[in-house]
Amino acid sequence: MTVVRVNLAHQPYDICVGQGLLSRLGGLVESLQLGRRVGIVTHPACEAHGYAASVVGSLSRVGHDVSVVTVPPGEESKSLAQAERLWREFARGGLDRASTIVALGGGVVGDLAGFAAATLFRGIRFVTAPTTLLAQVDSSVGGKTGLNLPEGKNLVGAFHQPSLVVADVLTLKTLADREFRSGLAEVVKHAMIADAALFGVLEREAERVLRRDADVLEAIIAKNCAIKARVVEQDEREAGLRAVLNFGHTVGHAVEAALGYGVVTHGEAVAYGMLVATALSVRRGLCAEADAQRLEALLRRFELIPANYPSPELLETYILRDKKMRDGVLQFVLTLGVGSVTLAPVSDRTDLWEALHGLQA
Ligand SMILES: NC(=O)c1ccc[n+]([C@@H]2O[C@H](COP(=O)([O-])OP(=O)(O)OC[C@H]3O[C@@H](n4cnc5c(N)ncnc54)[C@H](O)[C@@H]3O)[C@@H](O)[C@H]2O)c1
Ligand SMILES: [Zn+2]
Repeated sequence: MTVVRVNLAHQPYDICVGQGLLSRLGGLVESLQLGRRVGIVTHPACEAHGYAASVVGSLSRVGHDVSVVTVPPGEESKSLAQAERLWREFARGGLDRASTIVALGGGVVGDLAGFAAATLFRGIRFVTAPTTLLAQVDSSVGGKTGLNLPEGKNLVGAFHQPSLVVADVLTLKTLADREFRSGLAEVVKHAMIADAALFGVLEREAERVLRRDADVLEAIIAKNCAIKARVVEQDEREAGLRAVLNFGHTVGHAVEAALGYGVVTHGEAVAYGMLVATALSVRRGLCAEADAQRLEALLRRFELIPANYPSPELLETYILRDKKMRDGVLQFVLTLGVGSVTLAPVSDRTDLWEALHGLQA
């Protein structure tokens, strides 16, 4: 097991990454002195694969009184209706201010259960056991929780840091291939923004990564959590630096919105966004062409580049709706080469459109 410490001023916590950790959860939470009652939020898939039973068994063995609420898979579950259902089921089931909510699942369960924990009884403790690659390397680190509205994704939410994150890499064995590869886009993103050595490991070990070799995944996931944790430590509430985590996401979100959510995966959209941001960086003389080629080759190896994307014209309209736009100026994350990024305003958008057209030429 590898432990990554997240050093937040008022609430430091650990991220444990390892193999077979779900059945050890009871032992892992022991030092946190959680109250007796624990409410677990999970997905049908995690019940079907026996993950929920492992967690329930492990927590029960150390004396916890556990209840489980299952939410349907899909983004639709990040709704006020599901949040209300959790509040009410847990209130009825006897959870109190000393209780803990455990999220067992992907980013949807994490965001929903985290929001419920942030708000029930004005905030109770939260432990997360992410079971998708995206959740293990991205959404379970950083304390953002949230719900969607018909008006847009993640419009309601709260910062609520977990007391512990337990990422069992063996759960990734049962993840659908496309979901797994989607998560790899965030792994590549972390390497691009902060760690050239990790990028080299991904290039060399691509085959073992795609085979989901548990030892390789444990090392890579721990490294990713550390990268995101170092950024979050410096900017817990997203005042500035944390924006580097949006590398590839300005265009990525536009791709998802233009095509309709679910047509491409989030990872495929972000992969394209990273290519655009890198092409723009090359045009501005910030990044070497060779680095852009390495990025494209790795994304191809991970099958993250589909044949068709929305036209530059369509993307433009969606990019201009970006919620990170300030006073009409687009805030872009550009790269200085593998392992390093910089924040740059894109006020004159000519070279952005040239980069978009260049990629689709
Ligand atoms: N809070 C944050 O900082 C943050 C960051 C990034 C993304 N997110 C959010 O994360 C969400 C996406 O999360 P996701 O990609 O994990 O998708 P997801 O939670 O929808 O999970 C994908 C699918 O995989 C299934 N599944 C989960 N674990 C499995 C396993 N081990 N084996 C088999 N099937 C499994 C789920 O039931 C679901 O159908 C989005 O809502 C996004 O907004 C949040
Ligand atoms: Zn993302």
